[in-house]
Amino acid sequence: METVIRKIDENNIDINVIKEMAEKIKNGKTVIFPTETVYGLGADAMNEDATKKIYEAKGRPSDNPLIVHIADIKDVEKIALEIGEKAKIAMEKFWPGPLTIILKKKDIVPNVTSGGLETVAIRMPSNKIANALIKESKTQIAAPSANISGRPSPTKAEHVVKEMDGRVSGIIMGGDCNFGLESTVVDFTEEIPMILRPGSITKEMLEEVLGKVEIDPSLSKKEDNKKAKAPGMKYKHYSPNAQVYIVKGEENKVVKKMNELYLKNHAESKKTGIMCMHKDIDKFNCEKVIDLGETYEEVASNLFAALIKMDEYEMDIVYSVSFENYGVGQAIMNRLLKSAAYKVIDADETIL
Ligand code: TXA
Ligand code: MG
Repeated sequence: METVIRKIDENNIDINVIKEMAEKIKNGKTVIFPTETVYGLGADAMNEDATKKIYEAKGRPSDNPLIVHIADIKDVEKIALEIGEKAKIAMEKFWPGPLTIILKKKDIVPNVTSGGLETVAIRMPSNKIANALIKESKTQIAAPSANISGRPSPTKAEHVVKEMDGRVSGIIMGGDCNFGLESTVVDFTEEIPMILRPGSITKEMLEEVLGKVEIDPSLSKKEDNKKAKAPGMKYKHYSPNAQVYIVKGEENKVVKKMNELYLKNHAESKKTGIMCMHKDIDKFNCEKVIDLGETYEEVASNLFAALIKMDEYEMDIVYSVSFENYGVGQAIMNRLLKSAAYKVIDADETIL
């Protein structure tokens, strides 16, 4: 498939490019566009044939539902059956932004979009390019992350082009995505809201306005993963070609352990990459060390791009430091554990 690729500056949007890409959406074609979280692979959410193309382009299992992106808060009423008080509060507080809400769906939402479920996931992105595209398309846009199923989600335009050129009808290159991890997905169909996928809108932030919020208990353990309430959380995900390991423990011991592991791999001619916080960048001695940033927000923003970079450097093995399971750390650890297929090394353990 020929892919039309156009660049846009979010702060100086060329409306002609938006029109060109919106025309594709109207015609049932696929367009990749930036959002504040990750790039999305979009098509008309109300057109069954169009949304089928999303699954094809990604190689995504058809029981994994898509998020419907809207540009106007009023559009929720078009697609959702019941909008409870708590959902309304969350929408008003966090939209536009990186929060996806799950509500009971109206029949107008095709089953292909909702993966056959009775519910629909809805999000109003804050990225101005995404907003302009949805408005100009005069519909709602279904969009999963713009990666091939199982790979890390793209947060940089170059990564999108490299992976998806030829697989979609259009790509809008719109710079880097600032949050870098996908939106927080919250189910509002029960009395107590439940986080099905952690993200930049944290449990603490949600509880401040909603009262008690639960987190899907199956997310924390590998054994329970198959029970995850968001279908997408069950699958292998965020995996670069390299084998990723998380090394946890006391800071100094982690550094020592990673350097030991590097020497062992080096002796076996395996290329080793390390991902750490900025302050520790000089403590490692291996082929490639990637600085994930100074704060957890920076780590969230850099994580997927770092995993993709490790593939570009053709690393065989990647070690990452561990993060506290609190605030944004919860979303970071969720993605990192999946990319590592839950392989965690304890810095106190002796290795052979
Ligand atoms: O930040 C984001 O959310 C990005 C950007 C492009 O908006 N999109 C994204 O979409 O991450 P995707 O398809 O990669 O992830 C959507 C997640 C999946 O885990 C899916 O199973 C879950 O949301 N989901 C969607 N609809 C659902 C529903 N009705 N019930 C439960 N989970 C649902
Ligand atoms: Mg995804």
